[in-house]
Amino acid sequence: MMSDQFKGKVAVVTGGASGIGRATVERLVTQGCQVMVGDLHEPAGQALVEALGPDHVAFRRCDVANFEDVQALMQAAVSAFGGLDILVNNAGMGSEICTSVDLSPETWRRVIAVDLDSVFFGCKAAIPFMRQRHGGAVVNIASISGLGGDYGFNAYNAAKGAVVNYTRSLAMDHAVDHIRVNAVCPGLVATRLTAFMEKKGILPELTKTIPMKRMGRAEEIAKVVVFLASDDASYMTGSIVVADGGQTASTGNTDLGALMARVGQ
Ligand SMILES: NC(=O)c1ccc[n+]([C@@H]2O[C@H](COP(=O)([O-])OP(=O)(O)OC[C@H]3O[C@@H](n4cnc5c(N)ncnc54)[C@H](O)[C@@H]3O)[C@@H](O)[C@H]2O)c1
Repeated sequence: MMSDQFKGKVAVVTGGASGIGRATVERLVTQGCQVMVGDLHEPAGQALVEALGPDHVAFRRCDVANFEDVQALMQAAVSAFGGLDILVNNAGMGSEICTSVDLSPETWRRVIAVDLDSVFFGCKAAIPFMRQRHGGAVVNIASISGLGGDYGFNAYNAAKGAVVNYTRSLAMDHAVDHIRVNAVCPGLVATRLTAFMEKKGILPELTKTIPMKRMGRAEEIAKVVVFLASDDASYMTGSIVVADGGQTASTGNTDLGALMARVGQ
């Protein structure tokens, strides 16, 4: 579906070389946006430029945990495409699964740096350029792991929970700049990050607690991201939008009806 609702707009998508980020880049480009992708994974970034064309997409290697890299990424977007209107803070990493007692301080720091510091760095570097255009939109990719706890996900839970509340703070501070800031909380989505679950054969068990009984697709999350970045969401800021197949709709209680049927009422 082609549309030109983003014609003349420029976006930066971090972690745009794979998964949810890549699907977001593809959707933005389809709708007329020019996109600068920042990612650690250079070959995948270059492949995306080749696939979508250099008039629409540019790539710059960037570690989102490094402020100088992030600043250079925003500057590169402005140099390549003439300005900056949209930032999707998407790059992220998981953590090893263990208790806090067993987690190394180095892993804690890296997860917090990649999943949380990156959002601060992105906004700090991008918002001055958005102010020059008298407005803009930021979409932070948080997670349902920012809304509740998971066993053994300590640093990831901490980082994503902070992204959720930081989104609200950013929204308040920058409403005056006509910059909207929202977050998306995906549930389980089939990407490189979760590929090990399929390889290990644990997906049926994991999707049991999802009312829709399946993982999400990257494109399904990208649709929500692009909506929040668009003028269709013009009265939304500070919103935390969940896309999780119903997973967090549950109180966590067991299906009482099914349980009663099993024990014969
Ligand atoms: N897949 C899921 O189930 C799921 C669920 C909730 C939230 N999320 C979040 O969605 C976002 C995207 O993840 P995905 O599932 O598409 O994973 P993915 O692995 O497919 O994509 C992540 C991209 O980020 C890049 N990246 C990682 N660290 C980086 C760094 N330091 N600097 C720059 N780029 C870096 C990777 O190279 C990769 O291209 C992440 O923030 C993740 O936490 C994913």
